[in-house]
Amino acid sequence: MLPYGRQSIDESDVQAVAEALRSDWLTTGPKVAEFEAAISAVAGGANAVSVTSGTAALHVAYVAAGVRPGDEIVTTPLTFVATAATAAIAGAKIVFADVDPSTGNLSLDAARAAVTPKTRAITAVDYAGLPVDAAAFNELAHSSGALFVEDAAHSVGSLLDGIPVGKVADLTTFSFFPTKNMTTAEGGAVVTPHDDLATKARLFKGQGLVREQESLRFPDEGPWHQEVHEFGLNYRLPDVLCALGINQIARLQSFRERRQQIHDAYNAAFSDHDNLTIPGTVDGAVPAWHLYPLRVEADRRRAIFEELRGRGIGVQVNYIPAYWHPVFEDLGYKRGMCPEAEQYYRQEISLPLYPGLTDPEVERVIENVLAVVGS
Ligand SMILES: Cc1ncc(COP(=O)(O)O)c(C=O)c1O
Repeated sequence: MLPYGRQSIDESDVQAVAEALRSDWLTTGPKVAEFEAAISAVAGGANAVSVTSGTAALHVAYVAAGVRPGDEIVTTPLTFVATAATAAIAGAKIVFADVDPSTGNLSLDAARAAVTPKTRAITAVDYAGLPVDAAAFNELAHSSGALFVEDAAHSVGSLLDGIPVGKVADLTTFSFFPTKNMTTAEGGAVVTPHDDLATKARLFKGQGLVREQESLRFPDEGPWHQEVHEFGLNYRLPDVLCALGINQIARLQSFRERRQQIHDAYNAAFSDHDNLTIPGTVDGAVPAWHLYPLRVEADRRRAIFEELRGRGIGVQVNYIPAYWHPVFEDLGYKRGMCPEAEQYYRQEISLPLYPGLTDPEVERVIENVLAVVGS
C-alpha cells in the first residue's frame, strides 16, 4: 500500500541520531539550541522554541497568548482536532468560522464576522501547506485586542510573497510528525517574532522553572536554586530528536521541491477532468505541500476511497469538520454551521505525497484515480 504520507530518512539522518546517542546529552543538551537556531532560520529569524509535538506547540502558544476560561478562539473546522482541542483545554470557547472553498483555508471574512470582544486568538491553519495571509490575520486580530496564531503543522518551509511562514504571525506552530514536511519522529515548535511571547512559551514548556539570577524572588537561596512562578509542563524535545531535526532541515529545500513536482504531476493529470477539483492556490505562494487534497463527487467519495485502498493506493481524508467530533456535539455544536468546510470534507481525498514517492508510483496513483473515477 502506498501511504498518503511518510517520512524520508536517509543514512545522514541515521548518523546524526547515532552521534547524539553517543554524546553526553540525550536531552537538555546543545542540540536543542542548535535545532532552535535552524528552525528560526527556516522561519525568517523569529524566536523558536522546540516542543514535543504540534499539539504541544498549540497548547504552549495558547498559554503564551494568555488564553483563559471565558475567552473565545476563532478557528477553522477543516483541521486536525488538536487546533481546537488545545484551546478548549486552556478553557476557551471555540468559535468555528468557515473556509474558502477553493483553498480550504480559514476565510478572513468569515473570521472577521466571528470576532467578538471576548476573542483572545484567531487561529488559521495553512491547510495542505498553503500559507494564509498572516499579515491580514494579524491585523484583524489586533484590531480587536486578540493575537493571531498560525497553525503551520502542514507548512514548515512554505513562503508567501517571499516571506517564510513563521516570520509574521504573532505565534506560529509547527509539527514534525513523520508524515509532515520534515520530521523528528514526534516533535514541534512555537515560533514568534515577539520576545515576550517566546519567554512565556519557553517557561511553560520547561515546567515554569526560572533560573536567571535577576528574575529569582529568593536570589540568595544558593547556587542550586530555581523557582516556579507560574505552573508549566514538560514539553522538552530531547537532543536525540533535535539531532534528527537539524539534519532534516538541511534536506527541507529538496523535500519541498520534490513535493511540488508530485503536486504538479497530479494537477496536470486531473485539472481538466469534469468530476475532479484540484487544490486551489494563491498568487505569491511557494508552498511546501504537505497534502494533495483532491476533491471528487461527494456521493461517490466513499466508493472511490474504498476502491483506491483496495488497489493499494493508501488515500486518506483530511479532515472531518472538527465540530462533528462527539466531544463538540456533546457541547451543543450542530452540523451545518460551516457549509463550505462540510462540503470540502464530503468531497476530499488526500493522495499519496511524500519525497520518496517515485515517478512510476506517481503514475500508478494517477492511473488508478482515473480508472476509479472514470471519465
Ligand atoms: C493542522 C494540524 N495541527 C496540529 C497537528 C498536531 O500535530 P502533532 O501530531 O505533531 O501533535 C496536526 C497533526 O496532524 C495537524 O495536522
